[in-house]
Amino acid sequence: MESNTNPVFDNSVDGDGIAPMFEQKAVWLEKQKRKKQIEETSGVERDAYFGYQRIAAESKTGRVLQHFNSVARYYDFMNTLLSFGIHHLWKRTAIRMLDLLPGDRVLDVCGGTGDLALLAARAVGDTGRVTIYDINRAMMEAGFHKVNSRALEKQIQYVQGNAESIPFADGFFDSAMVGFGIRNVTRMAKGFEEMHRVLKPGGKMMCLEFSKPTAPLFRWLYDVYSFQIMPFIGQVIAGNRKAYMHLPESIRMFPMPDELSALLKKIGFSRVDYRKLTNGIAVIHLAIK
Ligand SMILES: C[S@@+](CC[C@H](N)C(=O)[O-])C[C@H]1O[C@@H](n2cnc3c(N)ncnc32)[C@H](O)[C@@H]1O
Repeated sequence: MESNTNPVFDNSVDGDGIAPMFEQKAVWLEKQKRKKQIEETSGVERDAYFGYQRIAAESKTGRVLQHFNSVARYYDFMNTLLSFGIHHLWKRTAIRMLDLLPGDRVLDVCGGTGDLALLAARAVGDTGRVTIYDINRAMMEAGFHKVNSRALEKQIQYVQGNAESIPFADGFFDSAMVGFGIRNVTRMAKGFEEMHRVLKPGGKMMCLEFSKPTAPLFRWLYDVYSFQIMPFIGQVIAGNRKAYMHLPESIRMFPMPDELSALLKKIGFSRVDYRKLTNGIAVIHLAIK
């Protein structure tokens, strides 16, 4: 059952000296709340967040499925439009940092339409294999047309399922990655634990996710863009304002880079490091099993 209480809107946000023009919307959670969010998503609690909305944990996966069903056919186009194409650069940088080797086996968790998987397939070559793992069939189908050669068909396989329970043996993969997906997983820590489990010892994990811009003025512009312009474009092009309001909300609920690093270390990853992209709009975490 969904609860109407919204503990996020209590104005206890990080201060940056810039007056929050969209106070009711652009809420970057303060540290204690983000911590709580990690604890909640680690499976101990009954509740989870869908954007700013607090909901029963067991209903989150269904809501996320619905959300991606409604955006799947527009997903790639909207990604490129809303990010001015920058997401392609971020993805290329992320794959370069993973330093994949020919012949590697790679798991793309929450792989969706397969952008990261396609880049990884190039890096691992003919003898390598990339598995796109996603809970939503419509998202994977929306990317089928990009697997458009015999070579790619051989290299890329699709498996449908939940990131919290990955149907592969321990130590099966050389690398595991998740791009803009872990935010949606009900128990985020469980998702990372599963990625850790299916990696070989010494295997690499990469997480590419949105975060909070560092410079206050840029962050203000980003907040205005996220809460005013993006939902408007979402309404006009995809006929779905709500879906494009959920996106900025879920980004503001996500742990900060240091907090995510701490979670990864707690799970058992070592050499955890991160790199901020475009003033921190996106962050790449790298870690070793
Ligand atoms: C924002 S898309 C990212 C797609 C792709 N990785 C990219 O970078 O473009 C998030 C994806 O995560 C998937 N997803 C959400 N929750 C999931 C879960 N619990 N298990 C597996 N996939 C999930 C969604 O279906 C969606 O395809």
